[in-house]
Amino acid sequence: TDAVPGFPAPTEHTQQAYEPTDDFTAKWTRADARQIAAMSDPDAAPRENSLPEEYTMPTVPQDFPDMSDDQVWVWDSWTLTDGTSDQPSFKGWEVVFSLVADRSLGFDDRHTYARLGYFYRKANVAERPADGGWTYGGHVFPDGASGAIFEDQSFSHQTEWSGSTRIFDGNKLRIFYTAVAFYRNEDGSNRKPYDPRIVQSEGRLFADENGVWMTGFRDQHDMLQADGEYYQTGAQNEFFNFRDPFTFEDPAHPGKTYMVFEGNTAAPRGERVCTEEDMGYREGDPYTETAAEVMDAGAHYQLANVGLAVADNAALTEWTFLPPILSANCVNDQTERPQIYIKDGKYYLFTITHRGTYAAGIDGPEGVYGFVGDGVRSDYQPVNRGSGLALGSPSNLNFAAGAPFAPDFNQHPGQFQAYSHYVMPGGLVQSFIDTIGTSDDFVRGGTLAPTVRVDISGSDVTVDRSYGTNGLGQWADIPSNYAHDIAATS
Ligand code: FRU
Repeated sequence: TDAVPGFPAPTEHTQQAYEPTDDFTAKWTRADARQIAAMSDPDAAPRENSLPEEYTMPTVPQDFPDMSDDQVWVWDSWTLTDGTSDQPSFKGWEVVFSLVADRSLGFDDRHTYARLGYFYRKANVAERPADGGWTYGGHVFPDGASGAIFEDQSFSHQTEWSGSTRIFDGNKLRIFYTAVAFYRNEDGSNRKPYDPRIVQSEGRLFADENGVWMTGFRDQHDMLQADGEYYQTGAQNEFFNFRDPFTFEDPAHPGKTYMVFEGNTAAPRGERVCTEEDMGYREGDPYTETAAEVMDAGAHYQLANVGLAVADNAALTEWTFLPPILSANCVNDQTERPQIYIKDGKYYLFTITHRGTYAAGIDGPEGVYGFVGDGVRSDYQPVNRGSGLALGSPSNLNFAAGAPFAPDFNQHPGQFQAYSHYVMPGGLVQSFIDTIGTSDDFVRGGTLAPTVRVDISGSDVTVDRSYGTNGLGQWADIPSNYAHDIAATS
């Protein structure tokens, strides 16, 4: 990829595969991420999208239906997956797992009260109601189960964060998720750092003609806590990120199960750890920055990575950390809900991030980012002109970001329309609605957005505007693969 006039060239990445156990971490560099600014129109007027349409999620209208019929706030969601990330239905039903919280809470208070909830609907239905036709099934885990793993029971809040669900042997479910304890003072400051742990719990799934239910989930396997060597700990940085497990099998390594998750580069907060490799500029590029310059601006407070672990037993309760597969040092602080998506022999690492978590001097929209390589661990090539931006919310990088609870007057009304995008078979992408509108007129979300579709080909990921109506599919549409229905006999 050549340089855009006035901007640096992106880093050269080979896509070459390494062994999962090798000590090689691909870098999403500053030179790569600056390609987002390079493709942003500096003349885009207030409330216009400044980014290319082909990488932008179509605009979601404000009058969205609530999939829970006013019962719960809904955000991060996923369905049943098998080892190949296919999404089977179960006895003719589709099942979705979501973070949920009581609607009596303010939407921004949801994170410390999140529980895993589930929804179901009949698979293989031609016409559905506008809200997706889901029935809310309630919480997945018995009350208190996810909190029992913490040795220190003096938490102020205890909550369940994202993950993924695998189905085995007919109706056995293994839910991989993040159990979190907060230890906060009355004023919201930390009495001690919060404690996120990657946990697995096993249950059983049942269905009859009336609906879907689950049992089990009493035993919780406390599997991984950040180690401080590859993955930053709370002792190193009270604002660290460690969560969102996603497991899969790699056809190149039969018999093994891997997990990707969100982490941070292990270093004490404030340590000047970014290197010239994290900058990624080519020799003689006229638009370089040095690591020292960007750290003088504070960019080293943003040290996201995508972690990798390998299972040590068939029950997937014991895991060993491997080195991270991607780092974004001095680029961004959060690479959330990572997933591995295999297509045409290529491995795509998709992960979500926020405009507000970019490092000083780098900008980009809320959305899903993609990296392509020849293996789970490879010298990942950021998709789309070397930038990494796969599908962003419509945004105007010429104007301030604002916040979901206080959107900017001049910003595109869709800047916070959707988050927590998850890429499904066939390139379908689901996400939840956060805020739609500008400071003078906005509504908060708390339900799933319209599903959209991306074409994934080589190092290009582009939105399919012929899908649904002008690119917007149905609300809360998380389809299963009905051809792969699991007709359990239990
Ligand atoms: C993404 C996310 C996840 C986390 C959850 C907490 O939206 O930040 O990383 O598990 O939300 O609410």
